[in-house]
This record gives sequence, C-alpha cells and structure tokens, in this order.
Amino acid sequence: MSFDRNVKIAPSILSADFADFGAECRAIEAQGCDWVHVDVMDGHFVPNITFGPQLCKAIRPHIKTVMDVHLMIAPVDQYIEAFAQAGADFLTVHAEAGPHLDRTLQAVRAAGAKAGVSLNPSTPPEAIEFVLDRIDLILVMTVNPGFGGQSFIEAMVPKIERLRAMVGDRPIHIQVDGGVTPLTAPAVVAAGADVLVAGSAVFRGGSVNNPAPYGENISAIRNAVAAASAGTSV
Ligand code: DX5
Ligand code: ZN
Repeated sequence: MSFDRNVKIAPSILSADFADFGAECRAIEAQGCDWVHVDVMDGHFVPNITFGPQLCKAIRPHIKTVMDVHLMIAPVDQYIEAFAQAGADFLTVHAEAGPHLDRTLQAVRAAGAKAGVSLNPSTPPEAIEFVLDRIDLILVMTVNPGFGGQSFIEAMVPKIERLRAMVGDRPIHIQVDGGVTPLTAPAVVAAGADVLVAGSAVFRGGSVNNPAPYGENISAIRNAVAAASAGTSV
C-alpha cells in the first residue's frame, strides 16, 4: 500500500445493514469507495456495542480495498493481536483508551497492522506529539464517538490544521470521522485531512438491493471537495 494524500472516502459500516455486512462491503466498493471503515464499540469506552474480531474476520474476504478498523474499546491492548489476525490493514486505537499509548502503538505494528491513533473531540493535538514516529494514521473525531448520525463539531477544523502542521512530511494519514457530509467535507480537506469516514452520508437512501445511492452519495462528497478546492461551490 503506497502512501498518498489524495482524498479517500471510507464508508462506516456502522450505518450498513447489520444482517448483511458481506454484501454491504461488496456494494460500497462496487460503488466506488476507497476504504471500508469498521467501528468496534465495547459499551464501556463508548456507550454503544457493535461487534468484535470474529465479525472483522468474517467480512475480510468481502473487502478488496482496505479494512480500516477503529477500536473504541478500553482496555485495548489484549485485543490487538486478535484484530490484526482478523485482517485489519489499519488498526486505530484511542489515545484515551489506556495509560501507555506508546506501548500500545508499538504492539499494533508488532502485530502486523498499520497503527492509527484517534483523538476524542476534547483531546488536544499535543497528546500525540511524541508518538508521531510510531503511527501511520491520525483519526480526528469530529463527533463524540459512539453513534452515527451526529452533528459535525466545527471546533475540530483548527485542530485538524494543527495536526496537519505537526505531521509535516511524515507519511501519516489524517482521517476525519463523524458528521462528514458534502457540506462539511470541504473544510476538513482544506484543513489537511485526506481520509473521510462517512456513515449516514454514504448509506442513506440505498441498500444492497439498491446500491446506486451509495455511489451517488460518495460522488456527492468527492464533488463537493473538488468544487471547493477549485474555488467554486456546489
Ligand atoms: C462514531 C463512529 C463513526 C460513525 C460516523 O463513533 O466512529 O464512524 O459511524 O457516522 P456518521 O458519518 O453518520 O456521523
Ligand atoms: Zn469510526
């Protein structure tokens, strides 16, 4: 997997049909997504429960692009190996999930996955200043994690700018997650994000039997970003 800063759309399967994850993954890829974002929640670190490594392993053969696993779980260390074994390409942990982030990130890479670190809205950029050489991705939460369909927190835009400056020339992706729509995407890309997670904004209006809206929704986000960077609005 080579590194680039082109805009990538990563639909969150949190908004997919939970009875049909394999088909949903195939459908969003056929409709043009770049990565597949998998939200793991434990009912402890966040107030919602989704699924674990067995589900990740089960859907892995249905994903041809990148399986991007976002772990909203604490403690996290004892589960890293299982998620890496399940085929996560990127494995993202929360900076707030434990006391030894540096050790946790080393464990992710040692398990064979690319290492991501996520920041809750209230966590400052400086929380990861001294682990930059251990990571491949920064996930900026633009909602409080736990649920899809929440409103984008505008105060995160300057935080993305600060993280982008902090990253400099390092090959570290900056990912944004929560409330990403055609209206909010241009500002986060202008601030320096290159991976856009979107749940409700991608899955709305479609289904595995009617996947065309997924493609239209993905295109709407891409077009809004392209139009804004070309200096026009949509
Ligand atoms: C929130 C999850 C997100 C969520 C985004 O805890 O990490 O990935 O699914 O959903 P939308 O795009 O609907 O805000
Ligand atoms: Zn997520």
